[in-house]
Amino acid sequence: MKGVVFTEFLGMVEKQFSADMVDVVIDDAQLPHGGAYTTVGTYPHQEMVAMVVALSQHSGIAVTDLVRAFGEYLFGRFVIAFPSFFIGASNAFHFLSGIEEIIHTDVLKLYPDAELPKFDVEHHDASKLVLLYHSPRHFEDLAEGLMRGCVAHFGEPIVITREPAAHGDSHRFHLTRQD
Ligand code: HEM
Repeated sequence: MKGVVFTEFLGMVEKQFSADMVDVVIDDAQLPHGGAYTTVGTYPHQEMVAMVVALSQHSGIAVTDLVRAFGEYLFGRFVIAFPSFFIGASNAFHFLSGIEEIIHTDVLKLYPDAELPKFDVEHHDASKLVLLYHSPRHFEDLAEGLMRGCVAHFGEPIVITREPAAHGDSHRFHLTRQD
């Protein structure tokens, strides 16, 4: 997993909890390099899981809720860090339907060793978007949080539900416009 995701995670912990909590989480997770992440480095995604578990233990907040909240936060950071990805993006369905072919394709040009999930657009019309998420790393909570962050960014009345899909590593997300 790219270092940028780790540095953003620790940034969220500092802002929404405290600098002390950052130290506690890094200590508890027993990271081989003491939590010194660089944005362009690549680290085992298990280290992210270990840090979230530590944060969950110290905050009493469920791991699922923490990862989802991180996804929402991360999307807001991507809006600031990657403004070019938002040029011409008119709404959440438009943006999210291009996640595989446009956004993550460009991410791979920036970070050739990025380990990205696969998204299939199963349905897309004005009122409904169905995305099939596939990743052996099982970051479906992160995916949901990023989608929530995207919906919040565009300020649209969209409800997100999800269910495990037939293949063990897949989740199907239903995004339904309410107006
Ligand atoms: C400007 C928007 C976005 C940028 C710049 C971006 C970039 C990235 C980067 C750099 C990673 C880390 C890759 C690695 O760890 O090696 C990543 C992972 C991921 N991205 Fe995106 N992303 C964006 C939007 C989204 C959105 C909207 C979704 C959800 C629909 C999404 C879903 C994910 C997930 C779930 C992962 C974790 C890896 C996995 O599941 O296997 N991303 N993305």
